[in-house]
Amino acid sequence: MEAEKYSYVEALRWLAAKYNVEIEESETSPEYKLQQQVADSLYIINNFAQKFFTDNLFHSEEGQDIALAYLKERGFREEIIQKFQLGYNPEARDGFTQAALAAKYNPELLQKAGLVNVRDGNTYDNYRGRIIFPIHNQSGKVLGFGARIIKKNDKAPKYINSPENEIYVKSKILYGSYFARQAIDKADECLLVEGYTDVVSLHQAGIENVVASGGTSLTPDQLRLIKKYTNNLTIIYDGDSAGIKAALRGLDLALEESLNVKLVLIPDGEDPDSYVNKVGTAAFIDFVNANKKDFILFQLGIALKDAGSDSTKKSIVVNQIAETISKINKTEDFTKQQDYIKQCSEILKIEESGLHALVNKFIMETVNKKQTRVNRDQRFTEATNNTEQGVEADADVTALFNKDEIHEQAMIRSLLEFGLKNWIPPGQEAIEEQKVADYIFKEIEENQLEELIDNKELVRILKTYKAWYDAGLEPGTKNFLYHDDLPMSALVVSIMDFNYEISPNWKTHFEGHIATREELFAEEVFSTVNYLKLRKIKRLMDENQRDLEKATLAEDQMMLVQTHQHLKQMEIELTRQLGTVIFR
Ligand code: CTP
Ligand code: MN
Repeated sequence: MEAEKYSYVEALRWLAAKYNVEIEESETSPEYKLQQQVADSLYIINNFAQKFFTDNLFHSEEGQDIALAYLKERGFREEIIQKFQLGYNPEARDGFTQAALAAKYNPELLQKAGLVNVRDGNTYDNYRGRIIFPIHNQSGKVLGFGARIIKKNDKAPKYINSPENEIYVKSKILYGSYFARQAIDKADECLLVEGYTDVVSLHQAGIENVVASGGTSLTPDQLRLIKKYTNNLTIIYDGDSAGIKAALRGLDLALEESLNVKLVLIPDGEDPDSYVNKVGTAAFIDFVNANKKDFILFQLGIALKDAGSDSTKKSIVVNQIAETISKINKTEDFTKQQDYIKQCSEILKIEESGLHALVNKFIMETVNKKQTRVNRDQRFTEATNNTEQGVEADADVTALFNKDEIHEQAMIRSLLEFGLKNWIPPGQEAIEEQKVADYIFKEIEENQLEELIDNKELVRILKTYKAWYDAGLEPGTKNFLYHDDLPMSALVVSIMDFNYEISPNWKTHFEGHIATREELFAEEVFSTVNYLKLRKIKRLMDENQRDLEKATLAEDQMMLVQTHQHLKQMEIELTRQLGTVIFR
């Protein structure tokens, strides 16, 4: 499994095939069996076709004179042509068709494989006069073909690719992955280029950790394929390719999968194939290493350029980038997310805290969407056990709360900054006689300080604040900054947000689109307190769960299940409140 990156079943099949052991598959449906049979036949036909094309390229006069000469002129050497099993389909109407029919291949399957076409009852070759690039699966079997025209022809497409069928499923294929997999594993990096020729040329240059997507945006299946081998994806495209935007599309998904994505643009109308031929391997590698751009920042650059000075468009860009950043929502990537917020807010010339709030909004949106889905599912399957969905949502919420410390800090920060303002319960009028600090202390008392906040140092800040406040003082950040207790004042410094003055840029460009923290203080207070309450509920649920696992008496179990339901209800209610506050 490790060596070939196979799943358990794949590994089992591979071993069985290798040692001629029959594996007993469990009962399969007739449709599935038929599909398997078609797939097997297609593999066999493709294998025949590949051999036919390669044979033609090297051994027919036409192949040698036209196709092989063309490939060599482009700089492809024989060994690489052999390795990638390139071939040639002759110009004649039905050279391949005749050979395939003579070998008793089924015409319908030949058509399904995309090797032949039928018109007016006549069968003829689909790839006439084209160089053939076979496309291999992970174990080296031929799934289909890409066929490149040799002579320039405005009427015919440059490439013809296999049609979708039982084995050629474009969204799951990365060209070259069979030849690249070990190199990707070893380099811990996957290079992604646009085309067939890029892959073959780089290989020839000794750069073997490279695959191609065919210029379309990456699909979840393709990303998963890459992720089997590495977390580092470097996209190498030519600078003016229309494919760049396509390549960038769908990459939010890569972030969710914790892939590190970099982008390198090849200059001056070259593509990786022509560029490596021009400058050689060493210079190519140097260029790639020196020009890796962060893909989020790059995307931001393009979007900003597109937006120009239109402030509405710019605010859309801000929202988009915040959404993209919010996808980096894995605990292990937390620092990365913070870095992006910092860098992007600099590029956008907006406050870091504003972008921060926006990113959090998108994170909560995602959590809420999942939560709503779970709630809905729960309603439908009330009586049945739906642990699976439950686990999914919980894992998400847990990931959020692994940023424990951050939420605790956020709560303290909102107390220090907004404590003396009049408290405005979300969606209601301000309550004159109640300050934010009163609200926070009331909530904390009801929920018990120690259970809400883990960090003892933060607890100390809170207690100090309360002592001052109860004594009738008006505590604020400054009192802490100049406090004799150095560790405490240092901690306050580290959690404060100094970027806080409203920049003129923010106001002029984004007025009416993105509120500042100052304007959203009530929401911030409400949600930071509620995050901590939600976390406490989570913990109680975990504890309850452990008790439940140990419980043996029926009435104990019953009680614990009721507790669970009660807590779950509270969790749902809190999440709902949080959601409506943030999205009001
Ligand atoms: N492509 C395709 N169909 C087309 C054009 C392009 O499937 N009609 C895909 C192919 O996978 C191709 C890739 O997009 O390899 C990149 O296209 P392009 O840059 O035009 O071709 P190259 O691979 O660079 O081919 P060459 O260097 O021979 O021009
Ligand atoms: Mn090219």
